[in-house]
Amino acid sequence: MYSEKVMDHFEHPRNMGVIENPSGVGTVGNAKCGDIMRIFLDIDEEGIIQDVKFKTFGCGAAVATSSMATELVKGKTVQEAMQVTNKVVMEALDGLPPVKVHCSLLAEEAIHAALWDYAEKKRITIEGLQKPKADIHEEEEKEEF
Ligand code: FES
Repeated sequence: MYSEKVMDHFEHPRNMGVIENPSGVGTVGNAKCGDIMRIFLDIDEEGIIQDVKFKTFGCGAAVATSSMATELVKGKTVQEAMQVTNKVVMEALDGLPPVKVHCSLLAEEAIHAALWDYAEKKRITIEGLQKPKADIHEEEEKEEF
């Protein structure tokens, strides 16, 4: 059912954890299953993503897609990170079962929410970036996980 790459990233997730004082942080909830994903970004003065970490309550597919997504955005510019869509992530993992596609959206949306947070702090505009719909950062903040 799952590709070897999905299993590998699920069993050995890359970039799981938190970043203290991140340049941007984004938290989103998955409307379909209620799972939560938080992404932390460390972005340098040149706008290069130096580090990225994720924390999730999501399922195995969410862990695998976030692990792959964080690998794909690390070392990239903010603009390049915008190209890392859930489709790109799924392709890099050799696909996901159709019922699990919604899980892969968590990573993309949380990265966008973290980029939005970064852009707001820096007072810059990132081309193509929309205000995150599913950012639940405010309500969620009181209950740290
Ligand atoms: Fe919720 Fe996969 S079932 S993220």
